[in-house]
Amino acid sequence: MPETTSLFNKIAKHYDSLNTLFSFGMDKLWRKKLVEQISGSHLILDIATGTGEVAIETVKKLDGSRVIGIDPSAQMLSFAKKKCDTIQYRDKISLVQGYAEDLPFENDKFDAITIAFGIRNTVNPLQSLKEMNRVLKTGGIVAILEFTIPKNAIFAPIYLFYFKKFLPFIGSFFGSKKEYKYLSDSTS
Ligand SMILES: C[S@@+](CC[C@H](N)C(=O)[O-])C[C@H]1O[C@@H](n2cnc3c(N)ncnc32)[C@H](O)[C@@H]1O
Repeated sequence: MPETTSLFNKIAKHYDSLNTLFSFGMDKLWRKKLVEQISGSHLILDIATGTGEVAIETVKKLDGSRVIGIDPSAQMLSFAKKKCDTIQYRDKISLVQGYAEDLPFENDKFDAITIAFGIRNTVNPLQSLKEMNRVLKTGGIVAILEFTIPKNAIFAPIYLFYFKKFLPFIGSFFGSKKEYKYLSDSTS
């Protein structure tokens, strides 16, 4: 199992609440923007689905859509299952355990693919992109949501301090300092 998978197994319990806390609730808005990019799509693959937030936002917003969420972390998926196993979502969202680098789907299957805060955590991003291209229908959309370091000379140092120092510090109160340090360091 890659190191990142055990890392996400470890932080799964507090993942949703810490995301909301660290981003001041902005994470939900960012996911909404991501889903807007794939409007009109019916069958969607959400890679690195984690606790299922993008999958849920997608079926809420896109009428008649169905989502398959895939993620290697059993713990993240178990939280996703709890949220998705309800009357509203049961027939619309399926969850699969697996890696972006080796997608267990046939060629040309999906109208759209989403991946939020996940591409940088894959072991091999290029192989993951090749797999996305393989399972995506011709003319389909890949929508990627990811962090980056701001270019603004005033804002960049504040952001870097917040992201690289403050987040791991808060993570330490949840027993996850090392994990949040990795997540901060993996942003470029
Ligand atoms: C930061 S979380 C993002 C979860 C979710 N997309 C969200 O919006 O909150 C990153 C996810 O990527 C998953 N992941 C790590 N390596 C992966 C890989 N090789 N293929 C697919 N997902 C992977 C982790 O298990 C974790 O659930």
